[in-house]
Amino acid sequence: MRKPFVAGNWKMNTDGHTGTNLAEAIASATVEVAGQSVDVAVCPPFVYLQAVAGVLSASHIALGAQDVYIESKGAFTGEIGASMLKDVGCAYVLCGHSERRHVIGEPDELINKKVAAAISGGLLPILCVGELIEERQASRTEEVVTRQMKNGLAGLSAEKVSAVTIAYEPVWAIGTGLTATPQQAQQMHALVRKLLAQTYDGQLAEGIRILYGGSVKPGSAADLMRQKDIDGLLVGGASLNADDFVAIIKAAV
Ligand code: PGA
Repeated sequence: MRKPFVAGNWKMNTDGHTGTNLAEAIASATVEVAGQSVDVAVCPPFVYLQAVAGVLSASHIALGAQDVYIESKGAFTGEIGASMLKDVGCAYVLCGHSERRHVIGEPDELINKKVAAAISGGLLPILCVGELIEERQASRTEEVVTRQMKNGLAGLSAEKVSAVTIAYEPVWAIGTGLTATPQQAQQMHALVRKLLAQTYDGQLAEGIRILYGGSVKPGSAADLMRQKDIDGLLVGGASLNADDFVAIIKAAV
């Protein structure tokens, strides 16, 4: 009942030319599946959103941003608000990606405000959670993900939370070539769904999509997708190559 969802996070990559070419190649190779048997989104850098939106306008591929500010407008130099993202055609926005948490230093409380601002602004947030390698080695994985989930969704009504997608991305698997095994990922996805059921209700938890991210490649996508609670994939590196990303999309159908 949960439609698979594959999102590509381009991070700080591409330029106007390579970004639009990439979007065009993905759109033309997925005409038969995108938006029908699988939801697909790409998240280019802010400055290329509008150009990529133009390329995708005739497709069923959605546009996502990689971040959003907590206020909708005003004197916040350098920031981008949800209404601006809507204005250029975004449907989704990543909130609390591990690089925002661990490279830029965003705390749970700020991420929570971003999730809330995204929903208020009519965007669908993808809240990213996941543990560091030290935390996994110290058997703190469940504690960390539980805290990130609780704090990330704090104060949001069940109705608002139903707009959220969760992405479980173990930090040690992002960009490293190490993927969590399907069993390791399933265990954490089941925990995330259990937390949603406990905090809201079982029906809401059953309807929310939980994506896996961390070095997903064409060869690992199908096994991950076979897990009961893995509803889709958040893809970084492999989403920059049209053939690889299309193969991942097709493996998720
Ligand atoms: P990766 O990135 O696929 O390159 O590991 C995933 C992500 O950061 O979302």
